[in-house]
Amino acid sequence: MMRAVPLIRMENVGRIFDGGAIVALRDVNLSINEGECVAIIGKSGSGKSSLIQLLCGCDEPTSGRVRWRERPAPSPRQWRMLRATDIGIVFQEFNLLPILTALENVEIAMVGQGVSAAKRRRRAAELLARVGLETRQHHLPAKLSGGERQRVAIARSVANNPALLLADEPTGSLDSVSAAAVTDLMFEMQRTHGAALVVATHDQSLAARCRRRVVMKDGCIVDDSAAASAPAWSVERVSPEKALGCARDRGGGTEARP
Ligand SMILES: Nc1ncnc2c1ncn2[C@@H]1O[C@H](COP(=O)(O)OP(=O)(O)OP(=O)(O)O)[C@@H](O)[C@H]1O
Ligand SMILES: [Mg+2]
Repeated sequence: MMRAVPLIRMENVGRIFDGGAIVALRDVNLSINEGECVAIIGKSGSGKSSLIQLLCGCDEPTSGRVRWRERPAPSPRQWRMLRATDIGIVFQEFNLLPILTALENVEIAMVGQGVSAAKRRRRAAELLARVGLETRQHHLPAKLSGGERQRVAIARSVANNPALLLADEPTGSLDSVSAAAVTDLMFEMQRTHGAALVVATHDQSLAARCRRRVVMKDGCIVDDSAAASAPAWSVERVSPEKALGCARDRGGGTEARP
């Protein structure tokens, strides 16, 4: 039987800061398949955002590599192309362009994708309506609340029907009604377009909606609910020894940039 190629795969990935004084990620092996729905959970500082930053090429590993569809690790230029076409991202800090309105912030994701200006505008307005912002389209980010900015970021992230949708604490500053609306939008993208959804979250109800849950501790994956059912290539099982070793070693800083 032919095995499906993973959409994205981290291979022995490490990320250190300050010359090794801080180990954000240590020897992470993680494979995400098309259409999968994965929650990344773990305490504050466990490495969730660092992992998301590497899955979109916004940051580079200090050791190991990240492969897209099993091709060699993308160059910075290839990562930029992937982010323009295949990867939608909601950052923990939203990253909206301050001089563009909410509508323009969503529209800009579709520029260069062969979509006419009228269609871009229509789709951007539709997506903003989906997250309850139809009356805020023409506001600049500075005139929006934190939760409203987050909803704009989510509308923007799904505008191009990405193959991989990454979200870092997407419901962090939302009330329960808004959180449900944005979560529904992300899951709809996952269901109807077969997007893989990877969401770093402290929100237990959001994590519970993901079929697969990956638990991080001290920069390591210490549990992966797919490990029992997935084919061997898809998930690296983490032995208790390795997990414990990771917790013990934290702060060692022996990794170096290849
Ligand atoms: N640019 C940086 N420079 C130095 N240390 C960093 C940097 N970015 C992250 N770290 C450190 O790496 C570790 C992992 O951080 P990360 O942001 O990935 O955690 P997190 O799991 O997303 O936490 P939270 O739940 O609070 O968002 C932390 O100890 C953090 O202080
Ligand atoms: Mg984080």
